[in-house]
Amino acid sequence: MTAQDTTAPAPTASTPPGDVPAWWRQAVVYQVYPRSFADADGDGLGDLTGITRRADYLAELGVDAVWLSPFYPSELADGGYDVADYRDVDPRLGTLDDFDAMVAALHGRGIRVVVDIVPNHTSDQHAWFRAALAAGPGSPERARYIFREGTGPDGSEPPTDWESTFGGPAWERVPDGQWYLHSFATEQPDLAWDHPEVRADFVRTLRFWSDRGVDGFRIDVAHMLTKDLTEPLPSAAEIEALPRDGNHPLYDRDDVHEVYAEWRTVLDDYDPPRAAVAEAWVDSERVPLYARPESLGQSFNFDLLLAEPDAAEFRRIIADNLELAARSGSSSTWVLSNHDVVRHATRYGIAPRGDGLAPRERAARWLLEGGPENGLDREHGLRVARAATLLVLGLPGSTYLYQGEELGLHEVADIPAERRQDPTFFRTGGAQVGRDGCRVPIPWTTDAGSFGFGTGDAHLPQPAWFAAHAVAAQETDPDSTLGLYRRALAARRRLQGAEELTWVETGRDDVLHYVRPGGWHVVTVFGDEPYPLDGGRVVLASTAEDGDADGARVPGWSTVWYLADEG
Ligand code: GLC
Repeated sequence: MTAQDTTAPAPTASTPPGDVPAWWRQAVVYQVYPRSFADADGDGLGDLTGITRRADYLAELGVDAVWLSPFYPSELADGGYDVADYRDVDPRLGTLDDFDAMVAALHGRGIRVVVDIVPNHTSDQHAWFRAALAAGPGSPERARYIFREGTGPDGSEPPTDWESTFGGPAWERVPDGQWYLHSFATEQPDLAWDHPEVRADFVRTLRFWSDRGVDGFRIDVAHMLTKDLTEPLPSAAEIEALPRDGNHPLYDRDDVHEVYAEWRTVLDDYDPPRAAVAEAWVDSERVPLYARPESLGQSFNFDLLLAEPDAAEFRRIIADNLELAARSGSSSTWVLSNHDVVRHATRYGIAPRGDGLAPRERAARWLLEGGPENGLDREHGLRVARAATLLVLGLPGSTYLYQGEELGLHEVADIPAERRQDPTFFRTGGAQVGRDGCRVPIPWTTDAGSFGFGTGDAHLPQPAWFAAHAVAAQETDPDSTLGLYRRALAARRRLQGAEELTWVETGRDDVLHYVRPGGWHVVTVFGDEPYPLDGGRVVLASTAEDGDADGARVPGWSTVWYLADEG
């Protein structure tokens, strides 16, 4: 580190002067995957009362908000992202009264509640889709979905050769011979977003949950709702080749923002305005469209999910996203893990770098090649994960944490085929293992059975090594991963100021250093070689090792937070 801090041309996303930032701008949002968090009624599936009973845990962890993945009635063809009724609770997870009790428990502890809205598709069990099947071709009921005649002499070929995101064809034939579009699983028919009833119904849903006190919404595949299905439909190859410039027939169309502009006026009717964050897998240049205040207001940045643990790559991603956020007037979002990807402790622990594979492909290959011990360095992966977590928790903007990462959990790789649930696994004939490995119910106690998740067997099998990661095994140890997260979130609350960041040049390719207003320094070493510090009071270190506590150095593969010496 040079004593003279060099202000890099790094962009900053500043809070407008005199404006009190909205709560979500720099929040730590903890994602709960409800079926796998805590099971109060012992049926093997997590539930809302389970969350209520763990409200103290969440408060002690120090999160600002909880985002719940879907808890609505569902056949679970896609882990709840196949919603049969948007304005109710799955009876296996509780009731609306249980929901209200959960919100009261969280709000009572100062924790806000964000729920997931899944507007691209319903479940095939939704009343609308059942009615569409019953009513037949050409009916108004079918107009809410995307039905087409087949091709070939007798219509027995699908309308196009498009593939669903989870593999296999994107069209399914119904008994009367028509086909419907499902961009995801067969049980997830796509809605027709040019239909006024579809639009009106989602407004009703947003009001329903906002009226119940929900503080914000996470919008599932926000870039896919509107489609241009003018005949003749393009082939899969043509679709792939078309530019994603706002006029693409299927993805990231400009006209989707008409939907969000309407939603924004609805969300702004509330005091405080309800927040919304887009899950939009779009070119970075187009992210600000979703994050604008007149649209959803914030958009996920998933770049770190795809990144190598590499200083230059992290710096580029951070700088780019701060700039994009500034452009939209929003704050950035940082995500290292969620319910769709291999956990970050595992991504950082598999296989050597330099194998020519992108981290995602490498993780997929590792999962396929099975064995949890197959080339996974658990200790190193967790060490790098702790460093990466402290790096992002220091950044301006909001950080989304995924349940279990605070316990240092790794991906569960060895789930037997007959216990798997993810449609990706089934629709690719096992060629892709899917996402069950990050959705295994989390361990609360060291007891076998379900490790305190519930009294019955957990719905996905938990491995024996979960015991060492249990909350009970970690909570009294400040150096445990849970202890580190708790200390980090508490310190972040104290240190967090304006949404500004200044890079400090380190003279080393493998070390990142930035400083936040108030002299909060964050230094990460992306390599084995320790990095010397010249002064400062260490607030937190991701690795408990000799030499870090006195502010002398940052150990290899570690992050240190320190406060600059005064004067
Ligand atoms: C989103 C969700 C994912 C789900 C898909 C379809 O990407 O995060 O879990 O399978 O949408 O709803």
